[in-house]
Amino acid sequence: MSKPYNILFASSEVEPFAKTGGLADVCSTLPKAIKELGHEIRIMMPRYRFISERKFRLHDIIRLKEIPIPVNTAEKTANVKSSFITNLKDKIQVYFLDNESYFGREGLYQNPKAKEDYKDNDERFIFFCRGVLETLKRLGWQPDIIHCNDWQTGLIPAYLKTLYKDDPFFKDVKTVFTIHNMAYQGAFPAESFHKSGLPQETFTPDGVEAYGKFNFLKTALYYSDVITTVSEKYAEEICASEELGSGLSGLLAHRKKDLYGILNGIDYTVWDPASDQHIYRKYDSKSLEAKADNKRALVAKFNLAYNESTPVIGAISRLVDQKGFELVLDMLDEMMKLDVQLVLLGSGDKNLEKKFETAQKKFGDRMGVVFGLDEELAHLIEAGSDMFLMPSKYEPCGLNQMYSMRYGTVPIVRATGGLDDTVEDISTNGKGTGFKFVKYDSKELLKAVQRAVKTFQQQPEDWKKLMRNGMMKDFSWEHSAKKYVNLYKELLRH
Ligand code: ADP
Ligand code: GLC
Repeated sequence: MSKPYNILFASSEVEPFAKTGGLADVCSTLPKAIKELGHEIRIMMPRYRFISERKFRLHDIIRLKEIPIPVNTAEKTANVKSSFITNLKDKIQVYFLDNESYFGREGLYQNPKAKEDYKDNDERFIFFCRGVLETLKRLGWQPDIIHCNDWQTGLIPAYLKTLYKDDPFFKDVKTVFTIHNMAYQGAFPAESFHKSGLPQETFTPDGVEAYGKFNFLKTALYYSDVITTVSEKYAEEICASEELGSGLSGLLAHRKKDLYGILNGIDYTVWDPASDQHIYRKYDSKSLEAKADNKRALVAKFNLAYNESTPVIGAISRLVDQKGFELVLDMLDEMMKLDVQLVLLGSGDKNLEKKFETAQKKFGDRMGVVFGLDEELAHLIEAGSDMFLMPSKYEPCGLNQMYSMRYGTVPIVRATGGLDDTVEDISTNGKGTGFKFVKYDSKELLKAVQRAVKTFQQQPEDWKKLMRNGMMKDFSWEHSAKKYVNLYKELLRH
């Protein structure tokens, strides 16, 4: 093994403490996999109010009390609490930066009822970024690498290269920044900039500014030593397409030699039908008949009738523009003419929720919807569905298609980003694991669903092969974690 490194992992979401999407899964499982490779890794995240002190046994760290953090013209204080996550062998220390006025709220970024972003998200994450560095200093634990994730951590590389550049504590620290989604940038009005305390001269296009705004993601892309994103295809797409690069493709193309696509893995200790505690009956590729019992339990939960030959199409998703559900709504009438049932678990955009609610009334006996976040139901949908729908407009990586394959639930996906990298169409020489369509168009999606239904109902042997091929795939983290460690190694060599 190479020399063990000290790695600090910074994220605004970490399972099981706080989650809005795949970021949380990755920021929990990747550190575990890196630890397993023999490195010392610790995590820092905000302490949101809903993170239960009792459940997670959070405790104060006495010497990390009332750490002064300059934000705007005031001095705020961080109190640091600690807990841990575990993998099979190890504990990984998690530090929570607590400040009641910034994080003592019910949502991560939004008011959950009104679904409006908090107005002071700029200050909240300035506080977090600066707080991570101040906490490290007081902790006296010197990382070799600070691995940042998404815009909420985007100022950390900039602070290190400016305000902290002569600080001996951070002298040899390198930064890695992982893009989980280019569309969320943390772009604030220019007036926010002074709250950060960054030197005035950094507010330029060769610095933290993009299109006149103070942009946290852009800041990270400019200042971090290395940039990664969560699939190879998405790494290409965000450089090549102005739309997928969300206005920053020029900068990305400029930094292309420092940009790496590393596919996410999945956590088989959580997502494996052979050991899943949440499902009705456990199974593996040799006991596929037990999957049918999960299908029975699933349709019963949604008050639908069970019919072996009627495929259940599942979907679990944030309901936002990215995920392509407008295509589903566009072709729903046509799709429901087929002999299928649809179950959807989602939360997000109020408009989309309303449209699915209306559709559910129309197709009531063959369609079920649940709005909200429900971890347990998500597992049952993976286990009980025959097919899984992910028609994303873009998808940096996507985790559910990989979960689906593990559960023998055949994915129907749009060929974009990580969906394209992980799913092989049935037409690929006996190696297929799903159904893909290319053009972002509801008719193309419909054709893919028609192909899937036909195969399911008329070619059972081909269908079983698809299921087995998917279940045999190895999407574990080990391989990708090694790629990250090699990247750290390269960085630290220079
Ligand atoms: P994204 O991060 O863009 O939302 P991913 O596919 O990477 O997409 O990850 C989504 C994660 O969030 C998965 O673990 C998925 O199971 C979970 N998820 C999404 N919506 C829900 C929901 N309504 N209830 C429970 N889990 C959900
Ligand atoms: C983002 C992306 C998703 C990815 C996840 C974890 O939320 O939308 O595609 O899987 O981050 O990297």
